[in-house]
Amino acid sequence: MPTQTPSESAADTAEPAFRIPDRGLFVSEYNMQIFRATRMPERVKILDTTLRDGEQTPNVALSSDDKVKIAQALDELGVDIIEGGFPINSEGEAEAVKKIAGAGLKAEICGLCRANPADIDAALKADVDSVHIFLATSKVHLEKKLKLTQDEARDKASAAVQYAKDHGLVVEFSCEDGTRTDLGYLSVVHRAVEEAGTDRIDIPDTVGVMTPHAMQQFVAEIKKTIKVPLAVHCHDDFGLSVANSLAGVLGGAEEIHCTINGLGERAGNAALEEVVMGLEAFYNVKTNINSRKMAFVSRLVSQLTGIAVQPNKAIVGENAFSHEAGIHVHGVLSESSTYEPMRPELVGKERTFVVGKHSGVHAVDNKLKEYGLELNRDQMKEVVTRVKKWAESGKKLDDAELLAVAYDVIGQEDEPAIRLEEFTVFTGLNFTPTATVVLSIDGETRRSSETGVGPIDASMSAMRTAVSKNIVLKEFRLEAITGGSNALCEVTVKLGDSEDAQLLSLGKSVGSDIVTTSVDAMVEGLNRLWARKLSASNGGTNKKAY
Ligand code: KIV
Ligand code: ZN
Repeated sequence: MPTQTPSESAADTAEPAFRIPDRGLFVSEYNMQIFRATRMPERVKILDTTLRDGEQTPNVALSSDDKVKIAQALDELGVDIIEGGFPINSEGEAEAVKKIAGAGLKAEICGLCRANPADIDAALKADVDSVHIFLATSKVHLEKKLKLTQDEARDKASAAVQYAKDHGLVVEFSCEDGTRTDLGYLSVVHRAVEEAGTDRIDIPDTVGVMTPHAMQQFVAEIKKTIKVPLAVHCHDDFGLSVANSLAGVLGGAEEIHCTINGLGERAGNAALEEVVMGLEAFYNVKTNINSRKMAFVSRLVSQLTGIAVQPNKAIVGENAFSHEAGIHVHGVLSESSTYEPMRPELVGKERTFVVGKHSGVHAVDNKLKEYGLELNRDQMKEVVTRVKKWAESGKKLDDAELLAVAYDVIGQEDEPAIRLEEFTVFTGLNFTPTATVVLSIDGETRRSSETGVGPIDASMSAMRTAVSKNIVLKEFRLEAITGGSNALCEVTVKLGDSEDAQLLSLGKSVGSDIVTTSVDAMVEGLNRLWARKLSASNGGTNKKAY
């Protein structure tokens, strides 16, 4: 618990408001004063349970190959302990945990077990390094679910730990529903499992019912009664899992259980990315996590589980480093810490500016410059006015629409250099989709054929290679505008140049055939990239961009 109030300690400990700019973190001076008065461990271990509790997210089931892919990513991220699964659950689960254990990872590989020899045998067969044994201890679980007396539960827990230790395993023990268990009885069970040789004890807030203040005290009370390291495992039923995990560390925990993107049973578990950044930013507590890989791992987990990350999710959400309001964009463009508490690259993200109802000249100017457009004051004012009108009518304005507005204001774009002369695509069952395009580029005919995973992929590749292999398809977005099999679709492509990161272009098209609409969008994007490349490379005097 903090022993001083900020006002008592402020005068003699005052430091500049931005404490750790070298790490790209910009936090509150007041918060730092509180922090200086607390005792925290230098380092905290991370047990990631994405592959166990995270897989318990409703409607998530991972193949063993996908589990291995995630385990490898977690290992590279720097997770200390990977809870790979619940081996007794099924043959497939046991096989997946075994594959993870055999993947040569640096992390300790752990398997979840109930307090039964059969569960521990299954974990042993899966070659895990450690087991996480759990047994519920709250009154409601003992009486209604397990039908065990407190003494029976204590003995079952200690026998299971003894069994696992006798088989050479590292053991972490959890009293499930620990935070709703009487503290006196918790210490009885903890003493029994400690005597049986458990290496660590975890405190699960199984149904997420603690407040940070209570969690800190609860953990501190337990800490007084045990010798082995303590962990906390917090669920997010009231949205407090991260706060409770940090409070657990304030109370004396040295390990935190968490999951990527906060996946997990019901409302999920504490999100690894929030826990780790919170530990560092607020308490200067280190972990083994390489924060720059967070965004990558978050995307991978989202892709493989099929669970989208909410846009406004802290740290890894799409909007976490996105700015729309004119005042904010202006601030961030002159000094990012005005509206960003951390640098996006610290967590592997990029800053983006979104143009919408709240945008001003700075945001629009900055966005248009990304695509090589510089407007004069009057043109800019006109674009901003149209953007606001557009947004107020309830329509979403993406970069492609903004470009269209800007081109409309400054006058038509140059005559397109690239024209589509011919296009064919073949696809079918047991047939590799193949596309052929013939383009006319300033009078020169170029032909290209490519294969792909589908007709659109093949067509996009053929279009790109006909112009240049340097062209990169950075984004491809296909949206249905209307319903039914004859729906109108909208395709947006974002193109870049592998040799010049500054060169970006967009193309957009609407139509009823997803393949030809994609091709039309690509023609527009390629023409814009071509024009930008020309003016970037030779001021527009040469006719050949690629
Ligand atoms: O939330 C929980 O209590 C658990 C246990 C298995 C520890 O996930
Ligand atoms: Zn849990």
